Amino acid sequence: MTQEAWWASPSLWRKSAAWITGGSFVMLIFLTFDTMSYIQAGGKQVPGYSIINQRVDYQFDEAQNRYLPVIGPEEPLFGKMLTEEEAAALVSKGKLNTQAKNCMACHTLLGNGAYYAPDLTKSWLDPSWGSKEVREQQMIDFLMNPQDRLHNGLGRRMPNLGITEEEARATVAFLKWMSAINTLGFPHNFKAIDQSDAPAQN
Ligand code: HEC
Repeated sequence: MTQEAWWASPSLWRKSAAWITGGSFVMLIFLTFDTMSYIQAGGKQVPGYSIINQRVDYQFDEAQNRYLPVIGPEEPLFGKMLTEEEAAALVSKGKLNTQAKNCMACHTLLGNGAYYAPDLTKSWLDPSWGSKEVREQQMIDFLMNPQDRLHNGLGRRMPNLGITEEEARATVAFLKWMSAINTLGFPHNFKAIDQSDAPAQN
């Protein structure tokens, strides 16, 4: 009887299969934890919720050749500094509102959703809110009564979704927080509202 070639032995293939399955499993666990460190609030790409206490800008980064969020000085939303817990509660309420009212039926959030209306990822930074001084109130007014106005020349109107002032404020907090997420340059070439401080008067 001729000797079987080493690579044709069933036991070799059985052992290889067991090692490869085991190795892949360990790799998968590692990648899961690694991904979590990027996508969790307070992680490498997603800021903690109290970021709504600060200025969020979006500037071109020469080294990475893409637009990236830039966190600036203290600039509390609605003029009120919030603790991490208060900010988390407000942002979470805003997120729940976007789910309850199904904004994704028309909009995209972080690129997910429908293409009828503008992407909301950087809506906080949209120059059509006018200026950074009036933006918060403009956003609340728009969310509560969007049917009255053509906001950014898209030619489509958003219907009134019965959003209360409290819900609108929470939604604005959610939108501000979302604009600070590092989306690796998405949406591409978005030009943010000018937020530089007025030059000192003298
Ligand atoms: C039936 C479709 C529809 C739904 C649902 C909808 N929107 Fe809109 N939304 C629009 C349209 C259309 C516009 C563009 C209006 C304009 O330019 O005048 C718009 C514009 C906006 C803008 C301004 C965007 C910008 O940066 O210029 C914001 C903010 C916004 N919507 C938030 C929301 C939120 C939050 C929800 C869910 C609570 C929501 N929308 C649900 C259709 C919709």
